[in-house]
Amino acid sequence: MYVLGIESSCDETAVAVIERGKRNAVLSEAIKSQIELHAPFGGIVPEIAARTHYEAIELLCQEALCRSGVSLDDIGLLAVTQGPGLVGSLLVGLSFAKGLALARGLPLAAVDHVAAHVEASFISHGGIAYPLLALVVSGGHTTLFHQEAKFSGRVVAKTRDDAAGEVMDKVAKHFGLGYPGGPLLDELYARGDPRRFRFTRPRMSDGGEDFSFSGYKAALLRLARERNIQPQGRDFHDLLASFLESLVEYLAGKTLEAADFLGVRSLIVSGGVSRNSLLRRRFAEACGARGLPLYLPEPRYCTDNAAMIAWLGYERYTAFPGERYDDLGLNAYSRAAFRESKRHR
Ligand code: KG4
Ligand code: ZN
Repeated sequence: MYVLGIESSCDETAVAVIERGKRNAVLSEAIKSQIELHAPFGGIVPEIAARTHYEAIELLCQEALCRSGVSLDDIGLLAVTQGPGLVGSLLVGLSFAKGLALARGLPLAAVDHVAAHVEASFISHGGIAYPLLALVVSGGHTTLFHQEAKFSGRVVAKTRDDAAGEVMDKVAKHFGLGYPGGPLLDELYARGDPRRFRFTRPRMSDGGEDFSFSGYKAALLRLARERNIQPQGRDFHDLLASFLESLVEYLAGKTLEAADFLGVRSLIVSGGVSRNSLLRRRFAEACGARGLPLYLPEPRYCTDNAAMIAWLGYERYTAFPGERYDDLGLNAYSRAAFRESKRHR
């Protein structure tokens, strides 16, 4: 079956055509990043994001179809991100998908963006064993899920304040480095001494397992102020490298503690920040030492993309054939859908 996936939750408009069933492959992807539009603001401007999705989506859809060699007549399923994300942005993808579904009489699978980030690892890796632990770490999320089986899971820990990527973006904005901050810190890491500065690992005052990142940003800004570190030169690079090292140590430390405690058979790390070279290295070392299989999506499926949406849409469609796939009343949701829920798709 050919599946057309649409993603527009944040600042990337993406359309992908995949083939599932006998063959499992991503046939084509068309993606328009809005990074340059939002860069002058040091973060995403929701109205600009929504308008840009609106302008781009039809052409991207045609581009993805054209590159895949698959005609719209041969598409068997549409999959679209329903949430979480920026509502104005989500509504563009959702409305476009509904229009296509109605015009073509196609089934429409609504997909959760965070669950799709976890699914991204399945695009390139077969045989991921359950129970698994998945860390989704991006600009909008830092959440650990424990999954006994596909489509069932619970949140083990989530950030109580900023997401890990958000903190990197804010730090880069503060020092006028550009946007997004994550890739810039990734690149600058090699220039500094990551052991020069220490950052204290946060502990929840109520003893909870959640993450917290805003303290890292506050500590970094305090250090820069106290030592009068300007945004260039050795001290600055040491500070940024130490900051990244501490964030990654914190993410890996807490994730592997949870993996040990829960006795999982696989670990997935996904989301935009999982593109980070240091993070990939540190998780590989820690998992290697424990003999725990680690699955990281290919870098292009770490950040927002439509292939992961199509992939999960197909999984849902085949796992739950009795559900409605003709619901044109679908609405977007902005916040994580499965805070209390036991099931997330
Ligand atoms: O998954 P994503 O594209 O969007 C969200 O769902 O949030 O993630 C974007 C985030 C941004 O915060 C960006 O700074 C971060 O991922 N990011 C990285 C890297 N590439 C993207 N963070 C660290 N290192 C990278 N190489
Ligand atoms: Zn994302």
